[in-house]
Amino acid sequence: MNWDELIRECEGCTKCDLHKTRTNCVFGIGNRQTNIMFVGEAPGENEDLTGIPFVGAAGKLFDKFLCAVDIPRDEIYIANILKCRPPKNRDPLPSEQDMCIDYLRNQVRLIQPKMIVCLGRIAAMRLIKPDFKITAEHGKIFQRGQFEICAVYHPSALLRDPRKREDMLIDMKMIKAKFDEYKSESRDFKSGEINE
Ligand code: URA
Repeated sequence: MNWDELIRECEGCTKCDLHKTRTNCVFGIGNRQTNIMFVGEAPGENEDLTGIPFVGAAGKLFDKFLCAVDIPRDEIYIANILKCRPPKNRDPLPSEQDMCIDYLRNQVRLIQPKMIVCLGRIAAMRLIKPDFKITAEHGKIFQRGQFEICAVYHPSALLRDPRKREDMLIDMKMIKAKFDEYKSESRDFKSGEINE
């Protein structure tokens, strides 16, 4: 399935009840050639209204962290586990995640990132391991097949508890170092090709 087919299918999706209350499907946005994908849990009110992930208060705080470590938002891809907003922003149900996860799988397959960064516990429990503990394991890198995966605090958690922001900055600096490393690897590969 290509990008256009995947987006069309997602926008018309009726696999779970969340389609009945959505304004927009929040498919994902960003650079499809990126090495790093960020994955949150589910759209909130502003995301549902605009169709764009992480544009509300949590998204604005996330933007500040991207800016602080000099990762341009248009050089990464941002998506969520769920593409439709759960009522009153409740946690995504396991059944909703099961219905929706193939959209994310296909996004990962098309992008082939070198690293996936889970934004928060819900994404980490789904993508890293069911018993993931965000307080103990944020910033830790796991190898999963061809890519590395880690989790950082969800920006909403940083709004509720600003003391966590120090740890977030440390984790984001590590992710920036990876971002630069991947970039230089692909540059070396390209210049190698030219020299041979
Ligand atoms: N929280 C999320 O997990 N995702 C969004 O897109 C917005 C808020």
